[in-house]
Amino acid sequence: MSQYKYSTLAVHAGQHPDPLTGAVNVPVYLSSTFELTGIGADRGWDYSRAGNPTRDRLEAALATLEGGASGHAFTTGMAAIAGLVAMLRAGDHIVCSRDVYAGTVRLFDQIVSGYGIVIEYVDTSDLAAVEKALKPNTKLVHIETPSNPLMVLTDIAAVCKIAHARGIEVSCDNTFLSPALQRPLELGADIVMHSTTKYLNGHSDGLGGVLIGSKPEHKERFLFVQKAAGAVMSPFECFLVLRGIKTLPVRIRQHEENGRAVAEFLSTHPKVSKLAYPGLKSHAQYHLAVKQQQGFGSMMSFELKSRDEAARFLTALRIFLNAESLGGVESLASHSATTTHGSVSEEVRRKMGINEGRIRLSVGIEDKEDLIADLDQALATV
Ligand SMILES: Cc1ncc(COP(=O)(O)O)c(C=O)c1O
Repeated sequence: MSQYKYSTLAVHAGQHPDPLTGAVNVPVYLSSTFELTGIGADRGWDYSRAGNPTRDRLEAALATLEGGASGHAFTTGMAAIAGLVAMLRAGDHIVCSRDVYAGTVRLFDQIVSGYGIVIEYVDTSDLAAVEKALKPNTKLVHIETPSNPLMVLTDIAAVCKIAHARGIEVSCDNTFLSPALQRPLELGADIVMHSTTKYLNGHSDGLGGVLIGSKPEHKERFLFVQKAAGAVMSPFECFLVLRGIKTLPVRIRQHEENGRAVAEFLSTHPKVSKLAYPGLKSHAQYHLAVKQQQGFGSMMSFELKSRDEAARFLTALRIFLNAESLGGVESLASHSATTTHGSVSEEVRRKMGINEGRIRLSVGIEDKEDLIADLDQALATV
């Protein structure tokens, strides 16, 4: 299918008509087990934890969209990250972007480190710091770009060059942009991870995660992790993501148009400071965004003066919903210090640059003039 353009792939990759009935949508195979054709012989599936026909189609679709060798769908984005590090061993070392989703930090610091794996957080936008952090026992560099919520970019190709020179793999959390706007494997990354809960599902009606590997050994490793640890995406959730990705390119076009318009509006608003949106020429890494992304997306964050101002702003919003998460068709606004970064101590948050007035927006696909008017009236109450 790789000869086709992206929008065609989004509709058709992995989503050919059902060979049995001709149904144009992938059937939801709600079966935990499959009849065997003999001892040790089957029709391709034996038990749904190891493999399910609906999941296979989603995994194939996502592998194609990211340009990978295999896809592996998990119950949530967090389960996918747990799967990413499941085969590391005591004494191994991970270098992780410092400005990363706080759930990743919670998993690494409160579970993974208990297994004797050492995690070091590094500003991965600083290539010299990445180089300095690598050790003989480093097994993985895990980056998130753009980061959550400060929209700091990591130069994927440059980090891969540094890590690969020492035989170290690089994984990239691509949740904030989706494969429609950034394809880390094409830039040299070894593994891509997504919370499919966000843009890939796109409708805020399901949880999921995926790992996409670039090499045959990733397929072997992650199939084993799915079977052994068992946190696989359910067939119905797979169906929802399959349905979501058919409209990914058109949704993303609207997200992008709205995101740029909202960012431009906020950039001149007197009550808004420290607006972080890589699509603005004033963003310190604008040129890197242009180089490695196919667009700027619809995630951004900014500061109001205090927690009190943030509370007043969030309460006044009428279209934007005060809710966690991102990437759905509806616009969301959230208070970073008490939502995505609520599990991180105040001191660490301060070091990360996330203060009590920081608001994150996930701009949806509603009419952009309505969205701007909503933000304008809410800012007037601050
Ligand atoms: C960048 C990023 N990675 C991973 C996750 C975790 O995904 P999930 O909520 O599906 O477990 C999130 C969730 O917000 C996220 O924003």
